[in-house]
Amino acid sequence: MTRLDGKCALITGAARGIGLAFAEAYIREGARVALADIDIDRARTEADRLGEAAFAVEMDVTRQQSIDAAVDATVTRFGQIDILINNAAIFTAAPIVEVTRADYARCFDINVAGTLFTLQAVARHMIERGGGGRIINMASQAGRRGEALVGVYCASKAAIISLTQSAALNLIRHGINVNAIAPGVVDGEHWDGVDAFFAKYEGKAPGQKKREVGEAVPYGRMGRASDLTGMAVFLASDEAEYIVAQTYNVDGGQWMS
Ligand SMILES: NC(=O)c1ccc[n+]([C@@H]2O[C@H](COP(=O)([O-])OP(=O)(O)OC[C@H]3O[C@@H](n4cnc5c(N)ncnc54)[C@H](O)[C@@H]3O)[C@@H](O)[C@H]2O)c1
Repeated sequence: MTRLDGKCALITGAARGIGLAFAEAYIREGARVALADIDIDRARTEADRLGEAAFAVEMDVTRQQSIDAAVDATVTRFGQIDILINNAAIFTAAPIVEVTRADYARCFDINVAGTLFTLQAVARHMIERGGGGRIINMASQAGRRGEALVGVYCASKAAIISLTQSAALNLIRHGINVNAIAPGVVDGEHWDGVDAFFAKYEGKAPGQKKREVGEAVPYGRMGRASDLTGMAVFLASDEAEYIVAQTYNVDGGQWMS
């Protein structure tokens, strides 16, 4: 027996990084997974590699039509969605006096509105179906406190922690548990982008910020996507039935709350 036998999951931003690691872990635990991403070519390549339990679906979380079409395609393919992971997001950084409206709007559109309206579309399906469900939102240590150069991204992740609480309180009456995971610093392509921002604004050499943040983690290194999969499986499993509205830090001890 595996822990997610017979379950069907939709994971946004699953073409790479943490979302892809979640898809792999869920399949190992017996689930079928829709890998939803704006980068459909990469999602298809990964879904083909993962085999029959995986299915790639094009989804731009900033477009309602695209969200609805991806949810419909997943329900058509699997018959149901038991688990949603709202994982798609982008990072942005700039000193506060240089933040542009365009940058702010793009970050909040993907990270916050994308999460809210994907959650809404899947919650409607879960309520209609009547079998409850699990929704996991990807927050961040960045949502726990501000950072000098990361105001917009930090605010977007604080919004995820708050939305998780409100959605959870509203949806638990339907048997839908909403919770979140707050990673610390996780190595991968996302952090290559973060490193480039700090190289620009702090005059650091490429790779220097990554090294510094890794050394500053109490555990002694940056996280890996695989460090987060245990929590993602647990929150989707029967063992997490009584867990509602929580955001769990999985960060090697970086943030204590
Ligand atoms: N990597 C870290 O250090 C870290 C730390 C804390 C929180 N997180 C959060 O974890 C999640 C995953 O991070 P990651 O490191 O795997 O990021 P990533 O950048 O490697 O992957 C993000 C994925 O989202 C997709 N995406 C972007 N815009 C989209 C859109 N409009 N619609 C659909 N898909 C879209 C991208 O194509 C990509 O496949 C994010 O929510 C991120 O904010 C990451």
